[in-house]
Amino acid sequence: MSDTPDIQILPDAATLARIAADAVVRYVQEPIVTHGVATVALAGGSTPRRLYELLARPPHSTRLDFASVRFFFGDERCVPPDDPRSNYRMARETMFVPAGVADANVFRIRGELPPADAAADYERTLRGCGLFSGDWPVFDLLLLGLGDDGHTASLFPGTAAVEVADRWVTASRAPADPRDRVSLTLGALCAARQVIFLVSGRSKAGAVARVLGEPEAGLPAARVRPAAGQVHWLLDADAASQRHR
Ligand code: 6PG
Repeated sequence: MSDTPDIQILPDAATLARIAADAVVRYVQEPIVTHGVATVALAGGSTPRRLYELLARPPHSTRLDFASVRFFFGDERCVPPDDPRSNYRMARETMFVPAGVADANVFRIRGELPPADAAADYERTLRGCGLFSGDWPVFDLLLLGLGDDGHTASLFPGTAAVEVADRWVTASRAPADPRDRVSLTLGALCAARQVIFLVSGRSKAGAVARVLGEPEAGLPAARVRPAAGQVHWLLDADAASQRHR
């Protein structure tokens, strides 16, 4: 893996989404050609909405073989799947339904369960889906967002979940509603082949500067350093506005 992350700064959120959609198509193509299937772990929150909407319609939908993609989630809020705060619901509305993704190709985190049960259930799902055979789940593509405190997925600074090292999935606590979450652990995030951080908006500029400028500070997003993968940062100009180099 290259130690220096690939960083692209795009002029605005619309261009960011388009370049991200091009990257998703590019990074799932190779595993589909090589293995017949690509595993993608989706980011939650609001930033990826535009990306998912773009992927679900031409031209990207004509270039992405959705039937050969298996969709997973990097994290989920502990809410029912039809709750407006659900990451699964957001992905379903913006991409799975418009693109006709079969339910069998979507492996959601069952946020309706109590947090520890939901985490254990998802770990069983990952270990049992037949797509991951090693010590960690190796996603062909992992999409991540960045919180203004430097969190990613649902690994929040200073919480125990960041340090969980013996599992693929953990329950976690967020400082804001919904507080109960389920997240891939750092080890699982770091096993991915291609990682794309998608960051937009001035509110993230401080976190971007700290994560990229002071990796030694150990914010969760800065600790996503795949041993055998590549990290790509796709930022809009607002999110990159406090970077000094
Ligand atoms: C979540 C996400 C979380 C998100 C960041 C950024 O469940 O909210 O996984 O890590 O990516 O908080 O969120 P926005 O894109 O909404 O700013």
